[in-house]
Formats: sequence, structure tokens, C-alpha cells
Amino acid sequence: MEVVIVDSPQAGAELVGGGIAALLNSNPYSVLGLATGSTPLPVYDDLARRYDAGEVSFARARGFALDEYVGLPADHPESYRAVLDREIVGRVDFPTGAVQTPDGWSADPAAACLAYDAAIAAAGGIDLQLLGVGTDGHIGFNEPTSSLASPTRIKTLTEQTREDNARFFDDDISQVPHHVLTQGIGTILRARHLVLLAWGGNKAQAVAATVEGPVTGMVPSSALQLHPHATVVVDEPAAEALTLSDYYRHVFSNKPDWQGL
Ligand code: GLP
Repeated sequence: MEVVIVDSPQAGAELVGGGIAALLNSNPYSVLGLATGSTPLPVYDDLARRYDAGEVSFARARGFALDEYVGLPADHPESYRAVLDREIVGRVDFPTGAVQTPDGWSADPAAACLAYDAAIAAAGGIDLQLLGVGTDGHIGFNEPTSSLASPTRIKTLTEQTREDNARFFDDDISQVPHHVLTQGIGTILRARHLVLLAWGGNKAQAVAATVEGPVTGMVPSSALQLHPHATVVVDEPAAEALTLSDYYRHVFSNKPDWQGL
């Protein structure tokens, strides 16, 4: 695992946005795994800026969301389909239908989950998966004790996650759904490159557990230790609880240019 400690979320976004642009420029047909939450927003701003500047195109790319709420009204502005449309898909030249989300409105959620994993496989798998991390170490909506081999499936959110996400629902936890469809940890681990982002001191414990703790279903993000190409990009406050941060800085400052993101 590579750990990159950056000066600010903007610096991290530029690094990751540059890596995604390089990926698309070398393979325009790349398949991107898109995360929601507040963490990836600076990356989406960076990509929209690069698109406006003519540095990158998404015209042949495809995308898959990590997760989706179950049972929100179809036109709810906080469904992850709506969030991704607003924050990235509608700001660049992704063709209509090129970015899919799990179908949180399906009458048969189990079938929708099977279909989602099949669609990812049919697209050739995900080349680069963006990830945020919850304060409890969840990735996607894989809450603690999720199977490290899990496929896309329905999950019940912890009350902590519902409280954390109430800020997107008028600070009213009663509006936050209890159920979600999420790419499983097994699904996430099949992506060819995982890029986990974390900003701010409230993520410091989760970051330390992800990188330096034991691999355990109690901290779903620790599954990144099982992946051959995982990059963790954190700002200084989010790096606070890491014990080997001097080593990570040393590695990054000596990184050969040809390695890219
Ligand atoms: C949400 C999302 C995750 C996200 C996490 C952190 O519940 N399902 O994909 O990584 O919580 O959110 P934020 O980035 O807003 O801190």
C-alpha cells in the first residue's frame, strides 16, 4: 500500500485528478469506480476543470457508483444517482447511461445486486476505484463486520453512519434511509487500482486502522491491505494517528516519475 500525505484536500485532488486524466488519456475506454460523500468532491472539481481545459475526455469511459440508498423518492436530490449526476457526470462528457448506480428502487434488490456485479464484470471490471472512508472504517456502505469477500448486496446502516449522513438530509436523521445497496468488499477488491481519500482529523483513527491496523471485518477499509495496488491519499490532519508517516513521506519524495499515481 502506498500512503501519500498531502498539504491540503486540493493538493490531493490535483494528484488524483491528474492520475485519472492520465489513465483516460492512455485508455479512453477506462472504467471508473465513483464514490459519493463529501470527500471526493475536490477530485470531481479538478476533473471538471481539466475537462473544461480540454485536457481529458470521458466520451468513451464508463463508470460505476459504489452504492445507493434504498427507497428514496425517485427524484430525491440526495440519491447517489442524483449526486453523481450533479457533481461529475453532468459536468463532463460522459455519454448518457455510461455511469450506472445500483438500482435502489428495484422491487427485487437481490436481483439488482447480482445484475450490478454482472454489469461491472461485463464492462471488463473497474480500472480505478475512488473510495472515501467512514469514521467507523466503512467503504462504500460496507459497515463493520462486513464479509471481506462480500458481493454487491443490501446492507442496513449503523446509526453512526445515519447520523454522519443526516447533514445531507436537512440534519434530520429520520430522513436518512436504513437500507442501501453497496458494492461488496469482494467487489471493490476486484478493481485494478484502489484510491482511498481522507481529509480532516475526524478520519485520523479510521486511516490509521486502515493502513496500520490488523485486517479485519471490524474495519472494512483494512481490506485494502489485501490489494496489490492500493493508494491512500490523506491530508495532514487525517494522517495524524499514523505511526510511520515519516517513512511514507520518504517513499513518496523518492517515487520514480514513471510510476504515476
Ligand atoms: C458515506 C458513503 C461512503 C463515504 C463515507 C464518508 O456513507 N457511502 O462512500 O466514503 O460515507 O463520507 P464523507 O466523504 O462525506 O466523509
